[in-house]
Amino acid sequence: MNLNVDIHNLHLKNPVMTASGTYGYGKQYSDFYDPSLLGGIVLKGTTGQPREGNAYPRMAETPSGMLNAVGLQNIGVEAFCKEMYPTIEHLDTNIIVNVSGSSIGEYCDVAAQIDALPNVPAIELNISCPNVKKGGMGFGTNPEMAAEVVAAVRKVYGKTLIVKLTPNVTSIVEIAKAAEGAGADALSLINTVLGMAVDVKRRKPVLSTVTGGLSGPCVKPIAVRCVWQVAKAVGVPVIGLGGIATADDALEFLMAGARAVQVGTANFVNPMAPVDIVAGLARYCEENNIADINEIIGII
Ligand SMILES: Cc1cc2nc3c(=O)[nH]c(=O)nc-3n(C[C@H](O)[C@H](O)[C@H](O)COP(=O)(O)O)c2cc1C
Repeated sequence: MNLNVDIHNLHLKNPVMTASGTYGYGKQYSDFYDPSLLGGIVLKGTTGQPREGNAYPRMAETPSGMLNAVGLQNIGVEAFCKEMYPTIEHLDTNIIVNVSGSSIGEYCDVAAQIDALPNVPAIELNISCPNVKKGGMGFGTNPEMAAEVVAAVRKVYGKTLIVKLTPNVTSIVEIAKAAEGAGADALSLINTVLGMAVDVKRRKPVLSTVTGGLSGPCVKPIAVRCVWQVAKAVGVPVIGLGGIATADDALEFLMAGARAVQVGTANFVNPMAPVDIVAGLARYCEENNIADINEIIGII
């Protein structure tokens, strides 16, 4: 049976990828399995300069999920290109770098440097991070600003440009269309849902930043709804994520219109989740006489 899917110029051996910020740079999980078994791996959000991220505590467990306010801790684009990239470039999978920034200039600068890496066929433009003071979600909650940053990056980046959207908007379709109109080759959704938790014993917010991003199974119905709305409205492929932990979860997204999926928070619970999901998709196709996984994409 065929599990291959195409996202613009990317050929994926199966529709399962990892989600940015939950998989480090790929190496952290290679004790568990070979990342080449996946359709793609999306690496940690990368910015122009190295970032320490936000003060602790910056993670908290919630019913059926977690809140995080990591705030784009990363080694910076220069160290990524010089030190990290040579250690992962051999991987036989689509290596996708999540590009973040606090200004249009920073997004363009990072994208242009990543463009020069031969074995990175795509970037995922993160205009949806809720955990940074400047930029991030600010770009992804306004259609004009979303279009402006996507158009600027489009000018300097020649390979597959995936734009990652936030659910923290009234109409995600409006932002999706703006990103598509400005040159996005694919859209990924959703980033985390803005949330907050209070420690009643300390009478203080749980997170140092007060608010943070909610992820995990609790956000899945929001994410499936967003994917369904966006996939009907745009012509470019949609990559679905948010709360995927099993093959059935992944199937929900595929049937709602996602061409591929990403696995995020589930990696912290079960490091094997992405490969288990690949096996589960194959089993589902076999049991239901589906010769090609593309047959079920968007059937809702
Ligand atoms: C600890 C943590 C760090 C994250 N870092 C990033 C990041 O750097 N860039 C990004 O676009 N999304 C980041 N995300 C969001 C995830 O990629 C994903 O969009 C979100 O968690 C929903 O998927 P999930 O429920 O499967 O985790 C992060 C999420 C978590 C939990």
